[in-house]
Amino acid sequence: SGRLAAELVASRVLDVPDFPKPGILFKDLMPLFADGPVFRQVIDQIVAHHGAQRFDVVAGVEARGFVVAAAIAYATGTGVVPVRKAGKLPRRALSATYALEYGEATLEVHEDAFIAGQRVLVVDDVLATGGTAAAALDLVEQAGGTVAGFTVLLELGFLDGRQRLAPRTVHAVLTV
Ligand code: PRP
Repeated sequence: SGRLAAELVASRVLDVPDFPKPGILFKDLMPLFADGPVFRQVIDQIVAHHGAQRFDVVAGVEARGFVVAAAIAYATGTGVVPVRKAGKLPRRALSATYALEYGEATLEVHEDAFIAGQRVLVVDDVLATGGTAAAALDLVEQAGGTVAGFTVLLELGFLDGRQRLAPRTVHAVLTV
């Protein structure tokens, strides 16, 4: 159930103070990824949540979003499009620059990553300010895809990232 999955995420997240900068409380979900039965239950809950919602491909945001995206894609028989940090893609790419809680970053996607009108589920481990997800949305649309929705394991509700993505819907397994 959604409630069980939320409890599992809560039990497998570590709070790391002052990473990567002083004053930032980093949410480390690697204990969740490392626990096979828990990881499977959480991914299964996400897949069940999106049951009726159709998407054709999953876009995962570097780096921890790749882990979540690959699992959802495998479970649903869809593919993965990696949304990468600047300078990592080998072919012509589109780019979007955004502000992080800490600093600034640029994301890129291959310009031919999506078929026109393809419905894309954008996934990441954590939604904080929403800057990363908004940049991913921009890239999907620049590349001709349509965002079907967003899914994250953990949402920091007080930062209101969800509002930046409205009217598109965000599914968070756990919101704190
Ligand atoms: C973290 C997290 C999300 C993003 C969320 O990534 O994995 O991608 O921040 O923050 P936002 O909603 O405020 O944009 P990070 O920038 O640490 O990159 P990494 O996954 O490559 O380490």
